[in-house]
Amino acid sequence: MTSIASNAHPDAPIGVFDSGVGGLSVLRHIRAQLPQEDLIYFADSAYAPYGDKTEQQVIDRSLAIAAYLLEQGAKALVVACNTATISAIKALRARYPELPIVGVEPGLKPAAAISRNGKIGVLATERTLRGDKLLALREQVSNATGATFVLQPCIGLADRIEQCALGNDPLDATSAMLERYIAPVLAQGVDTLVLGCTHYPFVQDAIERTVRAHTQETITLVDTGEAVARQLARLLDAAGLRRSSSSDAPRLQGYTTASVESLATAFAGLLDLQPPVAHVAV
Ligand code: DGL
Repeated sequence: MTSIASNAHPDAPIGVFDSGVGGLSVLRHIRAQLPQEDLIYFADSAYAPYGDKTEQQVIDRSLAIAAYLLEQGAKALVVACNTATISAIKALRARYPELPIVGVEPGLKPAAAISRNGKIGVLATERTLRGDKLLALREQVSNATGATFVLQPCIGLADRIEQCALGNDPLDATSAMLERYIAPVLAQGVDTLVLGCTHYPFVQDAIERTVRAHTQETITLVDTGEAVARQLARLLDAAGLRRSSSSDAPRLQGYTTASVESLATAFAGLLDLQPPVAHVAV
């Protein structure tokens, strides 16, 4: 069994990964809440999207990326991808039992807590919505709160947003897809929409426009990026691994399994950052 406990150090970086640029929506919350930490962002763009892969394929990619990030000295791992969390977090925790690992899963619990009518739409990839972990979570929250969930697989949406972020696709194409997926969910009377994919917060404005075109009601959008960053801070504190603010200036490094230019463009366009980015074959 692999252990990191003996060599983990507060000055080591935190590894964050996603199938592509979606995890940058989580990275921005981590940077805001833990500004002193060194971060490594890994975009598995050569294998994106994860949403249409088998569960085993997503597990294999997640384990390979985690091993790479640990080789780079990561002291903690953030699975900044709902699809990878639902499919692979169990395997990651089994492989690295002592590593602080934080996943992102669709915010069904916070949605049930804020919904006024108990009807909630969940937008996510097909792989996420078919995962046992998600279905168990839905049952647990439904039993506890009486909330009902309309699960809407948004096939192709993460990919479209990725292309839009890279400037390859006009926002119009994304908006047409949002209309197709969101309209039927709103028609079922939901008052809350869970953004169950880390790509979706990057088109929050377009989602809000789509919603306004269909209803005057207030529809609350739920994104768990901020809660993930809070949980990461808690785990680092519990393990004594939080980097001190008096350490050197924090560093950010990007890695991608596809085009370096594309990830650099996404960093600049989505977060206004220009970190070094390197290509890796993992
Ligand atoms: N950003 C991802 C998620 O949160 C993955 C999307 C995909 O690769 O299909 O699910």
